[in-house]
Amino acid sequence: MIRKLEKADHLHLVQLYEIIANQIENPAYFNWSHEKVRSELLAAQTLIYDWQEQVISFITYRELPDFIEITAVGTAPLMRRKGFSQAILHELAGYAARQNKPLGLEVHQDNVPALSLYQKWGFILARTRANYYPDGRDAAVLTYKKSGPAQ
Ligand SMILES: CC(C)(COP(=O)(O)OP(=O)(O)OC[C@H]1O[C@@H](n2cnc3c(N)ncnc32)[C@H](O)[C@@H]1OP(=O)(O)O)[C@@H](O)C(=O)NCCC(=O)NCCS
Repeated sequence: MIRKLEKADHLHLVQLYEIIANQIENPAYFNWSHEKVRSELLAAQTLIYDWQEQVISFITYRELPDFIEITAVGTAPLMRRKGFSQAILHELAGYAARQNKPLGLEVHQDNVPALSLYQKWGFILARTRANYYPDGRDAAVLTYKKSGPAQ
């Protein structure tokens, strides 16, 4: 079930984030420094996929007056490629449409799973930000242009 993060979920979300961060191919894929993770995660607005009372996937975002910025996405390693991120994105895109706000985000240029997720969904490349990440690689700035994954 997809739902908003509640206070009681905070510890589970931090634990999931740490599992993902510990096995991530490139630490630069996550924007947040180790020290800031907990505060960033807890300050963000978050949608989670709750499966058997476990947080197995999440999307954090910031809602601004005219824009919704996705700040992080993650799915538990053993639960990937099962459509959980896509399902949460569907929920968030529906919310954004109801608010009449575009969605946008930055993603590391080498992060193929994340880029593929967003491209499948219909995000388009707006521009790149050179040397944006600590490893000197660029960020792709993506915006959402249509409803739902491309056919
Ligand atoms: C990116 C990530 C969140 C995707 O989560 P997921 O739940 O596995 O994604 P989904 O199952 O919803 O995948 C939806 C689509 O995204 C694309 N995709 C997802 N993982 C992919 C991969 N490893 N390779 C290529 N395409 C991929 C596919 O188009 C997929 O559709 P398909 O399975 O029908 O082909 C997950 O790989 C992850 O947690 N990565 C580590 C954290 C990270 O890098 N986050 C991004 C920076 S904040």
